[in-house]
Amino acid sequence: MQRYDMFIDGESRAPATGQWFPTDNPYLGTPWAEIAQGGPSDIDDAVRAAHRALHTGPWADLTASARGALLRRLGDTIAANARRLAETEVRDNGKIFTEMYGQLRYLPEWFAYYGGLADKVEGSVIPIDKKGYFTYTKKEPVGVVAAITPWNSPLLLLAWKIAPALAAGCTVVVKPSEFTSASTLELVRLFHEAGLPPGVVNVVTGFGKDVGAALVEHPLVRKISFTGSDTTGRHINQAAARDFKQVSLELGGKSPNIVFADADLAAAANGAVSGIFAATGQTCIAGSRLLVQESVHDEVVRRVVDLARTARMGDPMDEHTQVGPVTTPAQYAKVLDYVDIARREGAALALGGKSATRPECGNGWFVEPTIFTGVRNSMRIAQEEVFGPVLAVIPFRDEDEAVSLANDSRYGLGAGVWTSDIGRAFRVSDRIRSGTVWVNTYRAVSPLVPFGGVKESGVGRENGIEAITAYLENKSVWINTGAAAGNPFVMR
Ligand code: NAI
Ligand code: MG
Repeated sequence: MQRYDMFIDGESRAPATGQWFPTDNPYLGTPWAEIAQGGPSDIDDAVRAAHRALHTGPWADLTASARGALLRRLGDTIAANARRLAETEVRDNGKIFTEMYGQLRYLPEWFAYYGGLADKVEGSVIPIDKKGYFTYTKKEPVGVVAAITPWNSPLLLLAWKIAPALAAGCTVVVKPSEFTSASTLELVRLFHEAGLPPGVVNVVTGFGKDVGAALVEHPLVRKISFTGSDTTGRHINQAAARDFKQVSLELGGKSPNIVFADADLAAAANGAVSGIFAATGQTCIAGSRLLVQESVHDEVVRRVVDLARTARMGDPMDEHTQVGPVTTPAQYAKVLDYVDIARREGAALALGGKSATRPECGNGWFVEPTIFTGVRNSMRIAQEEVFGPVLAVIPFRDEDEAVSLANDSRYGLGAGVWTSDIGRAFRVSDRIRSGTVWVNTYRAVSPLVPFGGVKESGVGRENGIEAITAYLENKSVWINTGAAAGNPFVMR
């Protein structure tokens, strides 16, 4: 079995614990590689390496323009290795190759975008309101960044963090998910082959409670960028508060996909299906609540059920497969649990509702695309994140009720609006409390467009120009150009 070591200070390192743990292939339901099980001393080594690289050596000496050029080279490296990296991701998290390869081919754009932004970070000269001063601001890297990532799109979500962090001049310690560490280790090795200096990006693998917690608590870490569950996000936010570290958190969602009677219903049905069954529903922006106007409810349900029924399941590496397995046994059990919960709450099962036993699914952790109708928004199936292929359909009467149902959630990450009425598109987009609203489309993301959540979906934004400010601190400099300081007891 293949064995993966950690990557610290520019080199592969065996873990201080002397232990490796297996990582599974969700399609086969068996381990395919071993991952170094790091401990707190590995975290300490990695953070110290990152701290050294921040202040001394080649990285600290690079101009912003040179950093930008290096970032673009890292993007080229991803492009040259996209297929192999995508295959590693599919082997490790079971998502379909078509989607992971698409992500990997798009990933260089994050390095091009933030590479271009690196030397456009400017301070300002302040027309100061006191005589005899020259006062300016400049932006500096916040310091060592902890990037903690989940298993659903390991490299995409890592790029959202490290591209702006490196553009800002920060150094990084990555803690990938214990379920999908291999692709991150492969990527960071490739980055070093492309000329990334030692210590700038380090990877410590292992479990959240050991290495994740030690990383969050390390005093030399100044910023934590996390994507994952709201439960872990809460822990991290509290731990970070102890020594005032900055945090950005991208957490869960229970995103509404709202279909009005005036919508193109065929397009809306496509959007509803891709919103919840793409990525096997394992995405923070899954459109897991389908709100449908009463007059078209039955027709939309029929269309969505008919489409979902045709989903081809099986080997995620096969380009014809449309729905892959669930990534972990725990996630598999959790999804099936929620099917039971929904049934007990009185929701009506319109499709699926069980593990998939089709021959193409082998021993993998597959769940049939599942659709519940007759859901009330107060039910757990409408309020809690399942993170799997389970759709809850909720009827509504009019625009006001649609908006109020959409907003009746502790989350606020994404939302879809399907309508052919331009006024309604603007009105409803305005009234929905979420970080993103998609009108007559769903799940589109780009390095150019800010992404993140309100309420319990998180804190801060990734992507777009402003995301780089999450990795910068402002410094204000006052130069006395005039008289020597006078009365020592009075502030000037
Ligand atoms: P998680 O939130 O526990 O894991 C995410 C990352 O945080 C992993 O790298 C993990 O090792 C790390 N971590 C865990 N505990 C930590 C701690 N105390 N300190 C620092 N780092 C820690 O998510 P998990 O267990 O993989 O999945 C559980 C549920 O989370 C899923 O069922 C799903 O509902 C949700 N989830 C949401 C995601 C999203 O994109 N919003 C992504 C992955 C999971
Ligand atoms: Mg795995």
